[in-house]
Amino acid sequence: MRIGILTGGGDCQGLNAAIRAVAKSLMLNNNAEIIGIEDGFDGLLKRKVRQLSYADCSGILSLGGTILGTSNKANPFDYQGKDCSADVMSYYHELGLDAVVMIGGDGTMSIAYELSKLGMNIVGVPKTIDNDLMCTERTFGFQTAVSIVTEAIDRLRTTGHSHKRVMILETMGRYAGWIALHAGVAGGADVILIPEYPYNIDEIVSACELRASEQHYSIIVVAEGAKPENGTMAVQETIADSPDPIRLGGISDVLKSQLETRLNGEVRATSLGHIQRGGSPTANDRIFATNVGAFAAKLISEKLFGRVVVQQKNQLTSVPLEQVANQTKGVARDNITLQSALSLGISFGVANLETTGQS
Ligand code: F6P
Repeated sequence: MRIGILTGGGDCQGLNAAIRAVAKSLMLNNNAEIIGIEDGFDGLLKRKVRQLSYADCSGILSLGGTILGTSNKANPFDYQGKDCSADVMSYYHELGLDAVVMIGGDGTMSIAYELSKLGMNIVGVPKTIDNDLMCTERTFGFQTAVSIVTEAIDRLRTTGHSHKRVMILETMGRYAGWIALHAGVAGGADVILIPEYPYNIDEIVSACELRASEQHYSIIVVAEGAKPENGTMAVQETIADSPDPIRLGGISDVLKSQLETRLNGEVRATSLGHIQRGGSPTANDRIFATNVGAFAAKLISEKLFGRVVVQQKNQLTSVPLEQVANQTKGVARDNITLQSALSLGISFGVANLETTGQS
């Protein structure tokens, strides 16, 4: 067996743990040769591969980033304005690969689905700090990002408390509020703003005033994709040659200016940015990445291609790539963490969540 592995899209914690699990399982149980494809789909387009030895996959479990490199720009179906998918398919055949394990988020899974329709044998492994992949309860990287944001909230709280300020923390997460919701609850935020439920500024002002009367400071956690009612998301930049060109960012500053004119006290904004994606995975993410990697290897050995490893009802299973491609998963109204937060009086910046935003 000759199996390729690539990591696509933004990096996150746990990628190396997953590479290690896929490669070692296949080497030990199937005597497979492992071909590392460098820089995501760029490696298939520009013919950048290297064979991975057992030693190459050792000692990388706790490393952040990806030993293979990644790219969120190289789409074989639209590469510098051209469809290069036929070249990618010829290269796949030339390499003599039996299958490719593609570790990535929604963008990678969408490309993987298109390549699978052209005859490439693929097993998808989901990753992303955003936790927004369809059909899976969890992606590795998410839990580590949540821990980093939670620690940041703990640190901001001391300044909020000492100076009696409103402290705003902006998280990543793209168009989904998972990181903000989970870290907000873990960090005891007073207000959590997520893209799924556009906020009303008056509701946030009321929540901060209430907190001011009780504890003299407030913590607001805002997801980068959050937006005001009838308003738009804050876009930091547009990257023309990226398949997903919009880079969100800046909502914490927008909110700071909105609140400063309405509140008596001082307001400060912090944006954590890529710190959320960096460094070592938590022990839990290492275990999860190892489990999904080993599960992907099992699918390969059973020749079950065109599928993505997912967690459903706390168990690992797989679904067809088609079910994951071109979609994302947001925070539904009946989400248990959202409901717990509401029952504790945490504000989501809306008067009635039952009648706002997504279902
Ligand atoms: O998808 C992961 C993510 O970190 C998002 O949360 C964020 O919006 C985006 O990637 C940032 O992308 P880039 O690394 O290209 O700036």
